[in-house]
Amino acid sequence: MSAWRVFADPASLEDVLCEAIGAAIAASITARGVALLGLSGGSTPLPLYRRLAQASLDWPRVVIALVDERWVPVDHPASNEGALRHAFAPALAQGARLQGMKNPSIRAADGLAVCEADYRSLPLPFDLVLLGMGEDGHIASLFPRAEGLDAALDADSPALCAAISAAPSRVTGEFTERVSLTLGALHPARVIVLLALGEAKRHTLIEAAAGSDVAAMPVRALLGKGNDNLNVWWAPQEHAG
Ligand code: 6PG
Repeated sequence: MSAWRVFADPASLEDVLCEAIGAAIAASITARGVALLGLSGGSTPLPLYRRLAQASLDWPRVVIALVDERWVPVDHPASNEGALRHAFAPALAQGARLQGMKNPSIRAADGLAVCEADYRSLPLPFDLVLLGMGEDGHIASLFPRAEGLDAALDADSPALCAAISAAPSRVTGEFTERVSLTLGALHPARVIVLLALGEAKRHTLIEAAAGSDVAAMPVRALLGKGNDNLNVWWAPQEHAG
């Protein structure tokens, strides 16, 4: 069963989580000479990433890989790779490596083979995966009932990456064409952190935990029994003003 870690506010959650990720990186480097992180895009984790990038770690032995991507150029404001390259700039300057998903193919489906080959070259399995979650219960770019979701959730598939075409929604915005890690790529991670802030996402998590239709709320694939590697990290969201 997934454990919850609840904090009074985002700042105290970030203090503990930054420390925990740094420790996990150091432990992985000690154990196997490398630390492979799978990190989510979106806005929630960016302050944490900026803080982690300042940590004194053996960055040349750290590989950061996106868990999903909007299929836009890396210099596009919506690019997850662009956002993480900016947040982790100090760490990249010290030798950390960042593996993105976007490649020159115009369509995600056309770029999938190159993306899959790139991810197969990573020092798998992931030592730590950090996932955000949408209020619709999506994780990475595994959106409810999206085109490509069934293949991405297929536990028997060896694929690491999947091309996803999400139904447009308030959560997807205009960026419905995505590439995402599959459930098969996520599951073997040594540690999965599901980072969610605020009441709306707390309700989403409670609804997800109470149901079983994974296609309707893909986060369900990582909740419940058999997911002892997943911790939910939650704090109430402070509202400006
Ligand atoms: C993306 C993310 C996505 C994100 C959730 C939560 O490309 O949008 O990878 O999975 O984690 O949508 O986003 P927020 O943290 O911005 O609420």
